[in-house]
Amino acid sequence: MNENREKWGSRSGFILAMVGSAIGLGNIWRFPTVVGQSGGGAFILLYLLIIFGIGIPLMIGELAIGRRGKSNIVATFKKINPKGKWWITGVIGVTSGFVILSFYSVISGWVMAYIVKFISGEFNNLDTQEISHTYESLVSHPSVPLFWHGLFMVMVISIVMLGIHKGIEKTSKILMPILFAILLILVFRSITLEGAAEGIKWLFKPDWSLITIPTILSALGQVFFSLSLGMGTIITYGSYLNDSENIPYNSVIIAFSDVFIAIISAVVIIPAVFAYGVQPDVGMPLIFITLPLIFGALPLGNFFGTLFFILLLIASLTSGISLLQVVVAYFTETFKWSKKKASIITGFITFLMGIPSSLSTGLLENYTIFGEPILDFMDSLSSRILLPVGGLLTALFIGWVWKPKSTIEEMQKQDNKVPLGRQWSFVVKFILPVVLSYIIISGFF
Ligand code: PHE
Repeated sequence: MNENREKWGSRSGFILAMVGSAIGLGNIWRFPTVVGQSGGGAFILLYLLIIFGIGIPLMIGELAIGRRGKSNIVATFKKINPKGKWWITGVIGVTSGFVILSFYSVISGWVMAYIVKFISGEFNNLDTQEISHTYESLVSHPSVPLFWHGLFMVMVISIVMLGIHKGIEKTSKILMPILFAILLILVFRSITLEGAAEGIKWLFKPDWSLITIPTILSALGQVFFSLSLGMGTIITYGSYLNDSENIPYNSVIIAFSDVFIAIISAVVIIPAVFAYGVQPDVGMPLIFITLPLIFGALPLGNFFGTLFFILLLIASLTSGISLLQVVVAYFTETFKWSKKKASIITGFITFLMGIPSSLSTGLLENYTIFGEPILDFMDSLSSRILLPVGGLLTALFIGWVWKPKSTIEEMQKQDNKVPLGRQWSFVVKFILPVVLSYIIISGFF
């Protein structure tokens, strides 16, 4: 089976697909929101520290087992450790794929609806209340958001169905450069706004008093979500990786691009927020209410607004395909389904799973799970429980079952020296399990 398994066609294709998976709503919507709520500069430094100290080491390990296993995530754990029960980690990963994509697609659906609203000029000359009203009436509508959620899933399915090479790699190669170009235009727009300097200052000036345990936990959760760690995406993408590729080097490039785009997105959003005298710490409405207000007041606002939401859509589409690919790889290889059949069936199930999240901002507004509306619950379930549990089991597996020695062997395939091998082993064996257990325990309280 493995002989005919697909491989990435080129190094740039692999990197762009990985970066495409990493850069998503997490960078452009969640990161600036969390930075806004957690006090700017200090959070950014903390975030960088966690990316380099914890995120990259786990990414290296995930890529290494992925490449060794050359299978879907469940089979990879079984192959490396046939007698144990570690394959359950893979099952958790497949489940996370369904859960995350189901609510991710609902939010991406709102993004698509916003593109149309900007193009049609619906936000022209509206005040905050009118924009809030537009937002509320979109998300509380029983069927319109479902239509957009369905359309987003159709796009994801159509790409994944075409396979790694013709689908995911090709799409990422076309879309990611467009994403970078749009971001550049928007950054330029944002920093040339009058009053933007104050926002930039706020963004990069660390206020250490704001770094508390909850802030550290939210930074950790954000790193996992943003780098697509802990759920098998990286393992799955690593399984199509050529032996000649240098894993640590590629991991650094990918993580660095991810952080860079997150910070740039904050530079796009926060100065604009300051220039218009709005508070940066409003949370979710920042993107869907505050930004339209700001764009509405700018010359060529509709143009920039449309560009911004297209940027979000590209980012979420390339992440969405990486989520579905985890699931599709499992179903094609386990049940011998064709890619087409697996993509359509699992994509449709994801659509159905997203319906309660979509209705949770309207019809099911008063229905909560553990005190949270369904959509927020799905988000917390994934970033506080599923990803950290998946990450913990993966780290324990790499550190104590497969052993760092095997990962290092896997990395030495290109006969290069592995720098910092010892420090890396220490992080995977001790730091990661402790930190992740802590996140999981505190997630329950
Ligand atoms: N990394 C993506 C983002 O930042 C989300 C994601 C999580 C994608 C897990 C795949 C796996 O939006």
